[in-house]
Amino acid sequence: MKPGSTLIRHYLQFKDLRAEEYAHLFERVAIIKRRFKNYERYQPLADRTLAMIFEKASTRTRVSFEAGMYQMGGSVVHLTTGDSQLGRAEPIEDSARVISRMVDIVMIRTFEQTKIERFAAHSRVPVINGLTNEFHPCQILADLFTFIEAHGMNRRGIVDVDCLKGRVVAWVGDGNNMANTWLQAAEILGFTVHVSTPSGYEVDAKVAGIQNSDCYKVFKNPLDACRGADLVTTDVWTSMGYEAENDARRAAFADWCVDAEMMGVAKPDALFMHCLPAHRGEEVSAEVIDGPQSVVWDEAENRMHVQKALMEYLLLGRIG
Ligand code: CP
Ligand code: NVA
Repeated sequence: MKPGSTLIRHYLQFKDLRAEEYAHLFERVAIIKRRFKNYERYQPLADRTLAMIFEKASTRTRVSFEAGMYQMGGSVVHLTTGDSQLGRAEPIEDSARVISRMVDIVMIRTFEQTKIERFAAHSRVPVINGLTNEFHPCQILADLFTFIEAHGMNRRGIVDVDCLKGRVVAWVGDGNNMANTWLQAAEILGFTVHVSTPSGYEVDAKVAGIQNSDCYKVFKNPLDACRGADLVTTDVWTSMGYEAENDARRAAFADWCVDAEMMGVAKPDALFMHCLPAHRGEEVSAEVIDGPQSVVWDEAENRMHVQKALMEYLLLGRIG
């Protein structure tokens, strides 16, 4: 495939797929997860190779992509800035041209979104965003599937994506890559995000890349954002790459800790999610993250199942 070909599908941000493609993807996730749980072999990606490029640290993203690719019959190559020419200023375009001649699909975790876009523009194979400063679409994919498992799956495992419609997701904390991606998901799948951030850390609709500001509402007080929510979610106060702001952020975010009081004003069956890693006592209390409404371990596991379905879709198209 030639770089820039319209036949190559990349997943650089959540809005790269349409609502009906998400409906298909979530059905595939349910099937793929069920096969995994039943120890059924499913190896449609035999002889395919995934290159994973990490310019920032990771536990979940690395393990979920690597284990997922092996389970589907393929193999992986793991590169970091420190052990490749990426850290010695080889242009990203040249890296894309070379790497994409040797592998079938690429996952990148990096800093600016423009970097992954430049890579994708010169890649012969699909590129997946494994987190940038602006977006984290694979995580939201996992979070949405986790919500569907709780509210939109019947006994026979049939997925109802419409269970997301009209729901309220409360975002408490930084207007960061996770928040931006939630906004894109809300716009595409028809729910609303109640956003509460400290002043100076607001979401920016332009950066989030949304057209319609109806998909979110801003609240000064995080407690108000949580009122009546179906899902309460947060993230670290300081994302990777922003460590120099740590002290200022600690002071600014002190009141943005998801605690029992916040969960208490959400719906009685509200879920708590966190992409992890988490800092108990900072953005979330131990009582909440380790409590009965928390689904953080399901979220983490679901990273692997959703990414297997995503790789299947990008490489093989619609199955079934
Ligand atoms: N949630 C997430 O992406 O975790 P890692 O940073 O460990 O990959
Ligand atoms: N917002 C966090 C997410 C980590 C998975 C970060 O970018 O560091």
